[in-house]
Amino acid sequence: MSLFDNILKDSETLFKNEYALNFEFIPKTLPFRENEQHYIASCIKPLLNQRQGKNLFIFGPPGIGKTAATRFVLRELEEETDNVIPIYINCWKKNTSYKIAYDICEQLNLKFLQNKRTDELLHLAKKVFTKLPAVFVFDEIDKLEDNDFLYFILEEIPRKTVLLITNYKEWIAQLDSRIRSRLTAEFLEFRQYKPNEIKEILRQRIEYAFFPSVWQQEAFNLIAEKTAQLNDIRTGLFLLREAGNIAEMQASRKITIEHAKKAIEKMDDFSIKDSTLLEPDLREILSIVKQNDNKKIGDLYKIFKEKTSSLISYKTFQRKIKKLAKDGFISITKTGGGDLGNTSIIRYQKIKKLTDFR
Ligand SMILES: Nc1ncnc2c1ncn2[C@@H]1O[C@H](COP(=O)(O)OP(=O)(O)OP(=O)(O)O)[C@@H](O)[C@H]1O
Ligand SMILES: [Mg+2]
Repeated sequence: MSLFDNILKDSETLFKNEYALNFEFIPKTLPFRENEQHYIASCIKPLLNQRQGKNLFIFGPPGIGKTAATRFVLRELEEETDNVIPIYINCWKKNTSYKIAYDICEQLNLKFLQNKRTDELLHLAKKVFTKLPAVFVFDEIDKLEDNDFLYFILEEIPRKTVLLITNYKEWIAQLDSRIRSRLTAEFLEFRQYKPNEIKEILRQRIEYAFFPSVWQQEAFNLIAEKTAQLNDIRTGLFLLREAGNIAEMQASRKITIEHAKKAIEKMDDFSIKDSTLLEPDLREILSIVKQNDNKKIGDLYKIFKEKTSSLISYKTFQRKIKKLAKDGFISITKTGGGDLGNTSIIRYQKIKKLTDFR
């Protein structure tokens, strides 16, 4: 064996197709989500027979294939027929009725959209949907700032399936009743993957993304274990890519357990480093939000005071919460009128926030 066998040359790479590690990449098959895909498809199928589709409310924790399974079904639908229009919108990116109406018109290739109001845009789109049925997917629906467009779609578009996706099952309860009664959605819960399923999903992804046998088994096992602990495939994809990059940087032909460990350290660093930049009381509040995810701001204030015997006022606490939200550590969802007080639900932002949309 030559001394240089394990050294990567300048032009060489471990990645066969790095794009396959992007979060929006959809593989040829999505193992362990067959039932969910069939269920989604069964809600759309009536549209193919000139009947009314069913609406579906999809929920479950982050990084477990809700978006991927839904997009997979849309892709199959597109391959199957031109007679149903698929519309996919991420409400984190398009979070108002105006932006959504505009995006729908763009997806329909409609022209001359500038200077039009939301209702004008929606009426333009309606003309197309009166001729052909549509599937609307509104992903990350809890990030919406207003939902007037939803009322319009439910009320004015004759034949459609509306799919709403979120991490939060309770989101639907705060929808106003005129929308909820028109939606009459069925519920589809995505359960978390089991550790052996996560391992198989990552193993398949390695085949897409890396040249054969660049991964040492124990390095892969470590990343699969870490991913199973965090229960989020997105983290696994991030770690696979990082470990590959670290190995390449060291000009190694193999991805070893050291590279995998470094990738994991880097991920922890990333989130910890950001939060250690915070002032001590902000860090304390963040850790309380993390342990008490999804609670009202008033309840968090009580917990904070009990735990720290701090004398800060509720107003100051609110300001600090807002600061954490501004910096992307937490999110605030208002559940209905009133001031910030009892009506704001505070959620911890997981690693996703840091690594999403790469
Ligand atoms: N069964 C699977 N097979 C292959 N890849 C998968 C599978 N499940 C999830 N993934 C991949 O994991 C990543 C995260 O999945 P996805 O984006 O669908 O999560 P999600 O449930 O929508 O999460 P969030 O609630 O945070 O939006 C994606 O890149 C997706 O392709
Ligand atoms: Mg998603």
